[in-house]
Amino acid sequence: TTDLIALIDRHVRDIPDYPQPGVVFKDITPLLGDHAALTATVRGLADPFRDERIDYVVGLEARGFIFGTPVALELGAGFVPLRKAGKLPARTLSQSYDLEYGTATVEIHADAITPGSRVLIVDDVLATGGTGHAAVELVRRAGGNVVGLSVLMELGFLKGRERLPDVELRALIAL
Ligand code: PRP
Ligand code: HPA
Repeated sequence: TTDLIALIDRHVRDIPDYPQPGVVFKDITPLLGDHAALTATVRGLADPFRDERIDYVVGLEARGFIFGTPVALELGAGFVPLRKAGKLPARTLSQSYDLEYGTATVEIHADAITPGSRVLIVDDVLATGGTGHAAVELVRRAGGNVVGLSVLMELGFLKGRERLPDVELRALIAL
């Protein structure tokens, strides 16, 4: 697995001062373009949860959609999108949160999750944990049991993990 981590690590690049001065943005697009790295990432996100009988993978817009759907297929689960405000057409539950750079509101369809079902949340990056925390709240309000949160990369210096004390948080890479 050290090989897999090294492979993934090699395909993430630093973009200084994006989207604003002082932020070093971790760009995962090189990883998406490399079949071996993409395959390793999807498997790595799914692996810790293979025996957890996951019913739904919830993916966070936008990069959580890219990874969440193949992880759902790997786990034999359905996929539920959690979207930025105003994008979902039917009745929604919504939650506002702070981001490393700004604030946002996310929504889930109120009927997307059968109450009592087992849910894995997937995203690319855990930074301040605001998005992850909002996702956990929304899934719980929709009636789901949050089995875990699986991310490609955890930016440890932003202490997002501290906002998710009661969640099984797994990260392929921690910086
Ligand atoms: C990024 C990233 C996570 C979130 C992490 O998404 O993909 O979802 O921020 O930050 P946090 O832990 O501080 O909440 P962003 O909101 O930039 O949206 P995008 O995927 O649509 O680009
Ligand atoms: N990279 C990618 N996504 C992010 C980052 C980052 O550095 N910070 C918050 N979301």
